Amino acid sequence: MQTSTDQSPKPHANAGHASVGSASFRDTPAQAHHAEAASLLDILSPIQEDLAATDQIIRHGLSSDVALIGTISHYIISAGGKRLRPAVLLLTARAAGYTGQLHHNLAAVIEFIHTATLLHDDVVDESSLRRGRHTANAAFGNAASVLVGDFLYSRAFQMMVNAGSGETLAVMADATNRIAEGEVLQLMNIHDSSIDEARYEQVVERKTATLFSAAARIGAIVAGANSDTQQQCARYGTHLGTAFQMIDDALDYAGNIDDIGKQLGDDLREGKCTLPLIHALEKASAEDQSAILRAIEGGGADFIHIAQIVRKTGAIEYVQRRAQAHVEKAREAALQLAPSAYRTSLLSLALFALHRDR
Ligand code: IPE
Ligand code: IPE
Ligand code: MG
Ligand code: MG
Repeated sequence: MQTSTDQSPKPHANAGHASVGSASFRDTPAQAHHAEAASLLDILSPIQEDLAATDQIIRHGLSSDVALIGTISHYIISAGGKRLRPAVLLLTARAAGYTGQLHHNLAAVIEFIHTATLLHDDVVDESSLRRGRHTANAAFGNAASVLVGDFLYSRAFQMMVNAGSGETLAVMADATNRIAEGEVLQLMNIHDSSIDEARYEQVVERKTATLFSAAARIGAIVAGANSDTQQQCARYGTHLGTAFQMIDDALDYAGNIDDIGKQLGDDLREGKCTLPLIHALEKASAEDQSAILRAIEGGGADFIHIAQIVRKTGAIEYVQRRAQAHVEKAREAALQLAPSAYRTSLLSLALFALHRDR
């Protein structure tokens, strides 16, 4: 869902490394095959009103007497974002039979936590572009970004104490803690070329899948679903989130800066050994392997060159296949719910995570 309203100056579209070689992410077989896949707007249409109500709460929840808090939090929130995690909560709640309105608050809480992680993540990653505009750290500085991230975390918990049950509070507290663990684990892995797929997945599961899983589980809890259904929803979220991050990591090498609204090459510049690089390292020639190793261990790599190697080894397609396996598992879990338009959206959302270019 595009909620962008602000027209602040956009950093130059070619500031990063917008094109690598001649092919783009869209040209891979999986992408071409799904050129006609449902748009996110279509997928989310059954919960359009729920999303609008959630957005109202999000805007209202940013209020503070401290002006800079409002400035920075509005800056990032009004830049848009796909609102996927609140959508997962709203969809699972409806798919599990919820007919009330109380879940809007919890959906807003989920987006606050997501936004807080982005503010912190961009400081840690030294990223300069997010949602098509300068990151908050680039525009306002690291200290302000970290502190406003803290504000959003704590505001999320204030809202949850008012809106949620003890059960949802426990899920969110565990998820937030686990995300932090994931980010620290990732920090420990930086410049380490021995990272294998298992260690990569450990980070992904914590830093990204956890919040998707919590969103889906909370949706089921709100609906008063039994523990089996809660479990299936959580499973859906975990696999969806894992696929989502895998594709994010592929897009970091082979995406289009205008579509993803982020710089390409952030992961490599930072010495992050993500799945595309792990696979490329395995498949590359000896010469290309040493270029990758130098890039991971030393940093300061030539992104265009490494991205070409990543492509040449078929790593993008490999990541898509790995993500697809998770998407299939997510869909299996969603199919345990009773048929409805909401369940159809959950199924389509899993495909969107795989075929997305933004
Ligand atoms: C970005 O998430 C962080 C990752 C887990 C990759 P999104 O791609 O959902 O970010 P927005 O909210 O749409 O900007
Ligand atoms: C996701 O990882 C970070 C969080 C879960 C907060 P990335 O570092 O890849 O996310 P982007 O690419 O900056 O959005
Ligand atoms: Mg990042
Ligand atoms: Mg990324």
